[in-house]
Amino acid sequence: MDITALSARYRVRRLTPDDAPLVYALCRENSLYYQYCPPFVTEEGIIGDMAALPPRKTLSDKYYVGYFDGEKLVAVMDLIVSFPDESTAFIGFFMTDVSVQHAGIGSGIIDELCAAMPSFGYKSIRLGWVKGNPQAESFWHKNGFTETGVTYDTDHYTVVVAQRNL
Ligand SMILES: CC(C)(COP(=O)(O)OP(=O)(O)OC[C@H]1O[C@@H](n2cnc3c(N)ncnc32)[C@H](O)[C@@H]1OP(=O)(O)O)[C@@H](O)C(=O)NCCC(=O)NCCS
Repeated sequence: MDITALSARYRVRRLTPDDAPLVYALCRENSLYYQYCPPFVTEEGIIGDMAALPPRKTLSDKYYVGYFDGEKLVAVMDLIVSFPDESTAFIGFFMTDVSVQHAGIGSGIIDELCAAMPSFGYKSIRLGWVKGNPQAESFWHKNGFTETGVTYDTDHYTVVVAQRNL
């Protein structure tokens, strides 16, 4: 997949462990997210997430990417393609920089993603949010994602699975 096609507005590139301090600086300001989805972020945790995969997937299916406005990192997305089935892409994580929030930037990035993915053969995008997180639930509803009815429990929270058909 050509990730430069994911946005006309921002420069999109894969993030590497060298970018961990940059990603950490963006994430650590989003304290509400980590109240619902502990533990609080660390650089080591970010490096682990960059390599984390669901069962039976390989790194070739994983796009842990940054959206850059010039040199400024405005958003981070962890996208797994062909998961949980061939025609679905899965957003494992999406976060914008607090300094640019509430300006439509997050929604704009998701709109561009949803517009681009069909050209790579994907028919739906799936994701999960932590039950009760008002920020995540409101954002994904606003962006056309609806609950699939599936939820699953982790040790610390319940995840609500949602999907948008493209
Ligand atoms: C959710 C998030 C991606 C939105 O980014 P953004 O650049 O502000 O996006 P937009 O301006 O397009 O959307 C803002 C919408 O997010 C939701 N939102 C943001 N903050 C909120 C809050 N504190 N409480 C409730 N809803 C909130 C609302 O739906 C809001 O829409 P509104 O302004 O019409 O009320 C950003 O707040 C973020 O990174 N949060 C932490 C990580 C996270 O929760 N990611 C999603 C779950 S994986």
